[in-house]
Amino acid sequence: MLIKSPPSWQMPEREATPEHVFLNRRRFLGALGLGATSLIGGAALAAKEEDPTADLYPAMRNQNYQLDRPLTKERDAAAYNNFYEFGSHKRIAREARALKIRPWTVSFEGMVEKERQVDIDTLIRAMPLEERLYRMRCVEAWSMAVPWSGFPLAELVKYAKPLSGAKYLVMQTFLDKDMASGQKQVWYPWPYTEGLTMAEATNELAFMVTGVYGKPLAKQFGAPLRLIAPWKYGFKSVKSITRFEFTDKRPTTFWEQIQASEYGFWANVNPDVSHPRWSQASERVLGSNNRVPTLLYNGYGEQVAHMYKDLKGEKLFM
Ligand code: MTE
Repeated sequence: MLIKSPPSWQMPEREATPEHVFLNRRRFLGALGLGATSLIGGAALAAKEEDPTADLYPAMRNQNYQLDRPLTKERDAAAYNNFYEFGSHKRIAREARALKIRPWTVSFEGMVEKERQVDIDTLIRAMPLEERLYRMRCVEAWSMAVPWSGFPLAELVKYAKPLSGAKYLVMQTFLDKDMASGQKQVWYPWPYTEGLTMAEATNELAFMVTGVYGKPLAKQFGAPLRLIAPWKYGFKSVKSITRFEFTDKRPTTFWEQIQASEYGFWANVNPDVSHPRWSQASERVLGSNNRVPTLLYNGYGEQVAHMYKDLKGEKLFM
């Protein structure tokens, strides 16, 4: 496969846009009356207007999932996103407005009792929505803490009725290069593909997200349906899913196809295993200048470590 240039999020933090350049740009936009907040607010509003499930938010908070740090401000989390379908920079909210989130159909394929498709609104209304506060750690060494709304992935697995021989759940984003101009970049292996083992997919932490900050998911976060697997690097948390496939073969995921020596299937967070090009020991907290130590499994070891204890010889942390 031809790789034209490495995506910007593979760069170490120190090579990314310096904070003062970003802040100056903000001041400039602010002076024009076009601050990030108004752009982002517009995107969020548009999402709310178009979303027929808006009445379900805010969902009741599940108090089992608490944070050890302050929540990231919505305006910070909504202004710094990775969504390569719309471009390879972080200020993707404006481009992501092109994402058409209705009608939206999700398919269940492969090793299931019966392959079928379901309309997203039918699916969301069939699921027990709740809000959870989760930390999220990107492989680029920044992090945030966000109130996601959605339902356990385990509920979706139950709904899909997989066969007992299924070992992996593969999740894929839409494919539409007329809507998402990033998909015209042929050196990327579209559609974005991710996967979990069945044990991971049914782990209590694996969460299907449909909303954030008490509202339906704004487009740049991956509306109308995305994964959050908070013990793994953020690239595992695939956005705007249209296809679920149950299989007995481990999939080769999007970033693994691009750079297998740097991004693997497991991608569990570990401060002691460096990325080949930068340390993973600490992380920059989005919206602040703080760096904090990174935690093994992003602090969720109690819930997930048991799934990996017999997997000797696997590269669990890349
Ligand atoms: N899913 C799709 N379809 N396309 C993407 O480019 N980027 C991934 C992940 N899911 C990505 C994706 C990466 S690299 C990260 S860090 C997170 O989404 C970012 O999620 P956020 O923008 O909500 O912070």
